[in-house]
Amino acid sequence: MDSSDLDARAAWNAGADAFIQFVESGADYYRHLVHGPALLAACGDVRGQTALDLGCGHGYFSRLLARAGSIVTGVDLSDNLLARAIELESQGPLRIAYLQMDAAQIGDRFEAETFNLVTGCMSLQDMADPAAVLSGASRVLKRDGRALFSVPHPCTDPPVREWKRDERGGKLALCLDRYFDTGPAICHWVMARLKYHWRTPFRRYTLTQWSDLIRDAGFFIQNLHEPRPSAELVAAHPELDDCFRMPFFLIFEIMKRESQA
Ligand SMILES: C[S@@+](CC[C@H](N)C(=O)[O-])C[C@H]1O[C@@H](n2cnc3c(N)ncnc32)[C@H](O)[C@@H]1O
Repeated sequence: MDSSDLDARAAWNAGADAFIQFVESGADYYRHLVHGPALLAACGDVRGQTALDLGCGHGYFSRLLARAGSIVTGVDLSDNLLARAIELESQGPLRIAYLQMDAAQIGDRFEAETFNLVTGCMSLQDMADPAAVLSGASRVLKRDGRALFSVPHPCTDPPVREWKRDERGGKLALCLDRYFDTGPAICHWVMARLKYHWRTPFRRYTLTQWSDLIRDAGFFIQNLHEPRPSAELVAAHPELDDCFRMPFFLIFEIMKRESQA
């Protein structure tokens, strides 16, 4: 079975309970301590800015943006994840609007040049048609708007990935292979930290393929960010040592090419 046989909406609905608990319990420590804050920091001062958060799930990053002063719309395929987002919004309103839709349709759903910011927190790699998503993002962004999205770092997330360990289980080196084996794949959410296990479809891209997708959608790369915890944070949270040693996440900060003219 490859990812084309696995329906993304059904897969994320099936995993919604476990995913929500993973995030809300704090067990997803990379998100809370590393890539989430890094994506928010890369967005800069968002006060008063309109933002469209793609693949918002149950609203983790939409809420970070809204608390930082942005006016946020979140879109996602999964009804079950959105139901939790809407429940949290009713318990503590942040004026976030949530819509169930395929992010590939944003170009048809929203007026051109509506948003200052388009974001995606660890979601673009899960979308079946990132070219359509990025070209929609280019349409709905204002001329000087920015899009920022985090993904698993292509260089440290190939199909073959294993820590070489010493006799006590300590991590010696991260062994990586098959970087160029890109395309559809299945993410097996199997960790002791999860309430139950499930699978979701995703796609692997090389750095060049990401860069081509970005250029073909009418963007240029303004900045790359490789989130890394500080040594002090790793001292307090030794579980972050691996992403202190190797970059696990990559943030693309992109702008419309016409904004350069
Ligand atoms: C890893 S989760 C991240 C969710 C959220 N951004 C967060 O950080 O918690 C990926 C999300 O992408 C959503 N997704 C996948 N394909 C999508 C699509 N074509 N359009 C909209 N959302 C999609 C999934 O439903 C899921 O919520």
